[in-house]
Amino acid sequence: MTWLERLYPVLKPWLFRLDAESAHTLTVKMMVISHKLGLIQSVAPAAPRAPVECMGLSFPNRLGLAAGMDKSASAVEAWAALGLGHVEVGTLTPRPQPGNAKPRLFRLPEHDALINRMGFNNPGIHSAVKRLEKRRTKAVVGVNIGKNFDTANDAAVNDYLYCLKAAYPVADYVTVNISSPNTKGLRDLQAEEAVRGLIGALKKEQASLQQEHGKKVPLLVKIAPDLNDMQIEALARVFNEMALDGVIATNTTIDREAVAGHALAGETGGLSGAPVRERSTLVLQAFRMLLAERIPLIGVGGILSGDDAREKRRKGAELVQIYSGLVFRGPALIREVLAVD
Ligand SMILES: Cc1cc2nc3c(=O)[nH]c(=O)nc-3n(C[C@H](O)[C@H](O)[C@H](O)COP(=O)(O)O)c2cc1C
Repeated sequence: MTWLERLYPVLKPWLFRLDAESAHTLTVKMMVISHKLGLIQSVAPAAPRAPVECMGLSFPNRLGLAAGMDKSASAVEAWAALGLGHVEVGTLTPRPQPGNAKPRLFRLPEHDALINRMGFNNPGIHSAVKRLEKRRTKAVVGVNIGKNFDTANDAAVNDYLYCLKAAYPVADYVTVNISSPNTKGLRDLQAEEAVRGLIGALKKEQASLQQEHGKKVPLLVKIAPDLNDMQIEALARVFNEMALDGVIATNTTIDREAVAGHALAGETGGLSGAPVRERSTLVLQAFRMLLAERIPLIGVGGILSGDDAREKRRKGAELVQIYSGLVFRGPALIREVLAVD
């Protein structure tokens, strides 16, 4: 165990005394400073090198940071130095926006869970692109894109096209987020006809950007865990038809059954961490059975141990991502997951 892994359990009770969003902001600031001072590099676990080819990209390993942790692409190098093989930044929207009123992030430590209703607080796609132009990391960087809160659903395609064009030169892959529960109506874009129109337009744009930039940037869709069987079948049908490059399963859940009775269970937003694990893995497995073999899946939702990551791999995930697990387990989780093939 490195002293970085030992440090987190000591810091955690102090961080957990702060409200969840302040603790998050402080931790990311500390990481960026530690990275600038060369401290993370000297103490981070030597990541086992197990490169994986996926979607035409070479990932240093199978583990990545899920979207939402680094919404502004401000700490990509630091995350990579911790051993993560890919970092998904965002969600980014065309224009900057402040997100919902605070408090908007809650811890449910008894369940190893978080509830958030951040609402795509982000500095806008151009700010992130500027930062990514200067990146020096070997980690794969995904750019997760969404629509502004005040863009109507029938104009949403313009927001996604705008972000795709802006991100294309600097992104290794682009994720279309249509599964956040915190932007009104966003999940309606998962309906069959809506998704066909949206992905059709984005795939067309991807083809012309490929010509223009001489590189193919894979296009992925991130889906919700709260889809029923019919919705899953419809989405898989569209993804196969459109030759989508990958699917990320899943975002947070609006279901509260697993945390019923908790004082914070009634907070509006998406639930993540241990309570979403089972549903998220079921949705992953269902997509694996329905999607064409050449469309890879990235498994995310409730990974708090190496065994959880192994289960996602067994159910069809090529790559995995973590968010809540990092809050509750710290960097020790990274080494544990990297040990899983
Ligand atoms: C505070 C918070 C903010 C998030 N923001 C985003 C986001 O902006 N875009 C997105 O696609 N997913 C977002 N997510 C969802 C995560 O990427 C992930 O899909 C989800 O939390 C399940 O993984 P976990 O159980 O490992 O946390 C967010 C999650 C949390 C907890």
